[in-house]
Amino acid sequence: MADTNQIKHVASPLARQTLLDSDLTRPVAGNRPIKLLPWLQVIKIGGRIMDRGHEAILPLVGELRALLPEHRLLILTGAGIRARHLYSVGLDLGLPAGSLAPLAASEAGQNGHILASLLAPEGVSYVEHGTIASQLAIHLQAARAVVGSAFPPYHHHEFPTARIPLHRADTGAFLLADALGAAGLTIVEDVDGVYTTDPNGADGKKAELLKETSFAELAKLKGTLPFDPALLEVMANARHIARVQVVNGLVPGRISAALRGQHVGSIINTGAKPV
Ligand SMILES: Nc1ncnc2c1ncn2[C@@H]1O[C@H](COP(=O)(O)OP(=O)(O)OP(=O)(O)O)[C@@H](O)[C@H]1O
Ligand SMILES: [Mg+2]
Repeated sequence: MADTNQIKHVASPLARQTLLDSDLTRPVAGNRPIKLLPWLQVIKIGGRIMDRGHEAILPLVGELRALLPEHRLLILTGAGIRARHLYSVGLDLGLPAGSLAPLAASEAGQNGHILASLLAPEGVSYVEHGTIASQLAIHLQAARAVVGSAFPPYHHHEFPTARIPLHRADTGAFLLADALGAAGLTIVEDVDGVYTTDPNGADGKKAELLKETSFAELAKLKGTLPFDPALLEVMANARHIARVQVVNGLVPGRISAALRGQHVGSIINTGAKPV
């Protein structure tokens, strides 16, 4: 505290200037944020894997269990088919995006509870967003992994840009992994990676797997992607996560290989600058 003319001022390089002028804020805000949990591997499990029931889930649980001695994991689950049903009922009734977002998020949470129950013998439990935000480190001292919902808690603050909530599970998983400065993010799908067009769609036979691509190249692709498009926007501004691998969770061993740094799916390079 500086005491000038009896008036107390808080000494701060940003005290007297607008936060909108990047030339002025850069000396203070231009450096790279620290990595909070640099040893953490984040895995986003697609809701569509969970929708398939025991045939898909039990081998996946076995693989995750086997990874625990090697890695500390934040396992985040997507919403899957129940959220699609919810969107169709909610949209039919005219509900706004800000009402649909928390409902879809609760479906993602349910998938997380299912996965955490199956990993409970390993000390794994489901934790809510507030716990991830403030007590993840202590939970990961007590257990090798925790499970949470990948859906970001925009909830009633969801942008009304589109009728279906813009920020969904893939965006949420990426935002968390990047904010934590995690060692990596693996997105687990029910296909081998990102293709030029939906491999299960009408033009599926023409679909080519993109072994390595970037957020900018994907932004130019016309057609659908196996993740929410807002992910490409957050990738553009990533601070830590320089690449994400999209892998097929229905093929045993793919997640483990990805965590060991092997190229077994689609690698998407983000806008994060190398150190
Ligand atoms: N360009 C594409 N490349 C690969 N798959 C695509 C593409 N476009 C659409 N898809 C389809 O996306 C499907 C996966 O759907 P989606 O990403 O919605 O599921 P999920 O990630 O399991 O769900 P959630 O987001 O709720 O976790 C794939 O089975 C595939 O048919
Ligand atoms: Mg997906």
